[in-house]
Amino acid sequence: MLYFDHNATTPLCDEAREAMIPWIGALFGNPSSIHAAGRQARAVIDDARDRMASLLGAKPHEIIFTSGGTESCNLALAGLVRRHRSSGKNHLVTIVTEHHAVLHTMRSLAKNEGCELTEIPVDSDGLIDLHAFEKALRAETLLVSAMFANNETGVVQPIAQLASLCRNRGVFVHTDAVQAYGKVPCFPNELGIDALSLAAHKFYGPLGGGLLWLRSGVSIEAIQHGGYHENERRPGTENVASIAGMAAAAERAGKAVKEGGELMRQESLRDRLWQGISKIDSTALWNGKGSMLIANTLNVSFPKCDGETLLMALDLEGVAASSGSACMVGSIQASHVLVAMGLTEETARATVRFSLGRHTTEGEVDATLAALGRVLNRQVRV
Ligand SMILES: Cc1ncc(COP(=O)(O)O)c(C=O)c1O
Repeated sequence: MLYFDHNATTPLCDEAREAMIPWIGALFGNPSSIHAAGRQARAVIDDARDRMASLLGAKPHEIIFTSGGTESCNLALAGLVRRHRSSGKNHLVTIVTEHHAVLHTMRSLAKNEGCELTEIPVDSDGLIDLHAFEKALRAETLLVSAMFANNETGVVQPIAQLASLCRNRGVFVHTDAVQAYGKVPCFPNELGIDALSLAAHKFYGPLGGGLLWLRSGVSIEAIQHGGYHENERRPGTENVASIAGMAAAAERAGKAVKEGGELMRQESLRDRLWQGISKIDSTALWNGKGSMLIANTLNVSFPKCDGETLLMALDLEGVAASSGSACMVGSIQASHVLVAMGLTEETARATVRFSLGRHTTEGEVDATLAALGRVLNRQVRV
C-alpha cells in the first residue's frame, strides 16, 4: 500500500507500542484502586501527564486526558460555555473551515444552549480574515475556537495573532491543534490561548487517546458525569495503555519538530509530488498553496475529473489517499473547507488530499505519480 492518508491516522510508532504493551498484557490495575496494581497504573498516568505537560511547556494539572480529538474539542467548548455562560456572555466565534468536532459543537451550542455563533470566512488560500475576526468580537463574546492547522488543506492559522486580539477582551480562546502537534511548534502559553486539543493517533500514538490542555485557573464544567477523575473534569476510568502510548509518541513527534530535518524531508517529498502532479495534469490546483502550510499535506483539485472515481481508481492502484476529512468518509457532500475557499462544489468534489508521513519515501511518491498518471489517462476524464 502507498499510504498517503496520515492526516486521517498514523501508524503506531515503536516507542508508543513498547509503552503500551505491558498495559494490554500482564498489567491491568485500575488507576483509582488503592492497592499496588492500582498505584502502578496511577504512576504511569502521572508520569505521562508530567511528560505531556513538559512537551507543551505547561503544568501537569493543566492536562486532562480524553479519548481523542473530538472529545477534547467538545469538552473545551461545551465545558467552557456551560461554566461561564452565567457571566451573561453568550457569543461564540469560530472559523468556517473548522473540523466538524468544533464546528458542529459550536453550532449545537448555538442551536440548543442559547448561544449566538459567528463563523468567520477565509480567503481563497484558506486563511482567516483577521479584519472580519476583530470586527466580530464584542462585549458578549465568551469564546473563540480557531484551528491551528487544517486537516484538509494543512493551512496554519495565525493563532497567536487571534489570541492577542482576544486577550484584553476577556474572551477564552481554544485551538484545535489535532493536526498541528508534531508538525509545528505547539506551546499554548506562547500562543496566548486558554485551551488546546490533541489526538494521539495523529502523531503516531494510539487511537483512543487525546488530551485537553486547559490553562491553570480556567474552570470548566464536565460534560460527562459519573466520577471524580481528571480533577472532576473528565470522569471515567483512564485508558492507561493509550495514555502511556500517547506520551511516548508525543515525545518522538515533539523531537521531530525541534530538530526539523524530518519535516523538511516531508516538505520536499510533498513538493516533488506536486511537481509531478502538475506535469501530469496542467489543470490541477493546489489548494491553500499561498498560505503557511504544515509540511505533510497536499490538497489538489483535478477540475476535469470526478473525485470519487479518481479516489476509487487510486485505491485499486494501491494508493490510500482521502477526498477530504476522514470523518466525512461515505459522504458525497463537497468539502465545506474547499467551498469556503471559493471552489465550486464540483471542483471541491474533484479533490484529493495526499498527506505524507514519517515513513513516506521518494519511491512511494514516484510510484503514486505513476499510478495517478495511469488513472488520469485511463478512466476519470469527464
Ligand atoms: C483538525 C481535527 N480536529 C479534530 C479531529 C477529531 O479527532 P479524533 O478523530 O481523534 O476524534 C480531527 C480528526 O480528523 C482533526 O483532523
